Amino acid sequence: MDYCWVLSLFAFVVVVVVVSSVNAIGRVDNTSFYDNYHLTWGFDHALLTNQEKEIQLSIDTSSGSGFESNALYGSGFFHIRMKIPENNSSGVISTFYLSSTPSSSDHDEIDFEFLGNNGPPYTLHTNLYTNGQGAREQQFRLWFDPTKQFHSYNLLWNQYQIVFFVDNVPIRVFKNSTENGASYPSKPMHIVASVWGPSWTGHINWSQAPFQAHYQRFHVDGCVLNDYDIPKCYSSKYWWNNNNLWKLNPQQRGSYQNVRHNYLTYDYCSDRSRYPEPPPECQFNQ
Ligand SMILES: *[C@@H]1O[C@H](CO)[C@@H](O)[C@H](O)[C@H]1NC(C)=O
Ligand SMILES: *[C@@H]1O[C@H](CO)[C@@H](O)[C@H](O)[C@H]1NC(C)=O
Ligand SMILES: *[C@@H]1O[C@H](CO)[C@@H](O)[C@H](O)[C@H]1NC(C)=O
Ligand SMILES: *[C@@H]1O[C@H](CO)[C@@H](O)[C@H](O)[C@H]1NC(C)=O
Ligand SMILES: *[C@@H]1O[C@H](CO)[C@@H](O)[C@H](O)[C@H]1NC(C)=O
Repeated sequence: MDYCWVLSLFAFVVVVVVVSSVNAIGRVDNTSFYDNYHLTWGFDHALLTNQEKEIQLSIDTSSGSGFESNALYGSGFFHIRMKIPENNSSGVISTFYLSSTPSSSDHDEIDFEFLGNNGPPYTLHTNLYTNGQGAREQQFRLWFDPTKQFHSYNLLWNQYQIVFFVDNVPIRVFKNSTENGASYPSKPMHIVASVWGPSWTGHINWSQAPFQAHYQRFHVDGCVLNDYDIPKCYSSKYWWNNNNLWKLNPQQRGSYQNVRHNYLTYDYCSDRSRYPEPPPECQFNQ
């Protein structure tokens, strides 16, 4: 019994170590912000530090701030490290997401949004748009304090699945189930990040400002795409398209089910007041 326990703990540690090193693919990230990104708004509310290996975005009553990738991508394993604002930041939203041309009415988008808080629980909001249609929200209660340290937030996007990871734990899966009538993101997307205070989140206590979010790790594992020929980005020469990433492995499935069971606080798939019938993709993403 004890022996088994030690053995499974050992196996878990091995898996975690292997998974983390695969994500970092043996590279120490020394990429500067400007190698892959540029600021898009709130230029005087952004501060690069640590030899441009880290950026701080602030929001106060005059402005928030944001950046995006120089390139558009058609697949990848997108990764950022992020620390969200401290203080009582209710009403402030910090984001990391992928988005095709946002103004178009048929845009695709894959979102991580941190809703500001008055202390725990800390809510991570996710959403996914295809052809301009969103309303696919899932929310999670985080099992750590995201304001205190940097944590990893990753998005895997290949032809088979989109997976949202928090510290390498898969929290959300969106499978390509187009054959069963669902839709799937298919447009080149920028990587975007921002700190802002949209009116719909309600009152912000500005006496607590400025609210500051920090981002690190500007290396990008993605397939650059300058046209709409997305199959180019499904090539097996990109490691995130390999068949070991077409679905969750058994260990990831275990973590995924654990998160859904213990930390999922809202799921559009089970909201019968909005969707009398669950949308077609729901049954494939369990
Ligand atoms: C990392 O980048 C900095 C400046 O951008 C440079 O001075 C340093 O030598 C680099 N370190 C490595 C290990 O490449
Ligand atoms: C934030 O708000 C909570 C609840 O309103 C309060 O208990 C806490 O002391 C506040 N923290 C700070 C740093 O103001
Ligand atoms: C989704 O999967 C189908 C095969 O089932 C494939 O033909 C299609 O290219 C994929 N779509 C996207 C947008 O990746
Ligand atoms: C706003 O923050 C200040 C300073 O911490 C606090 O005294 C005040 O009660 C807060 N206001 C509201 C409406 O929570
Ligand atoms: C909010 O947090 C920042 C960063 O930790 C700090 O510098 C600032 O003084 C805090 N503001 C208030 C009103 O507590």
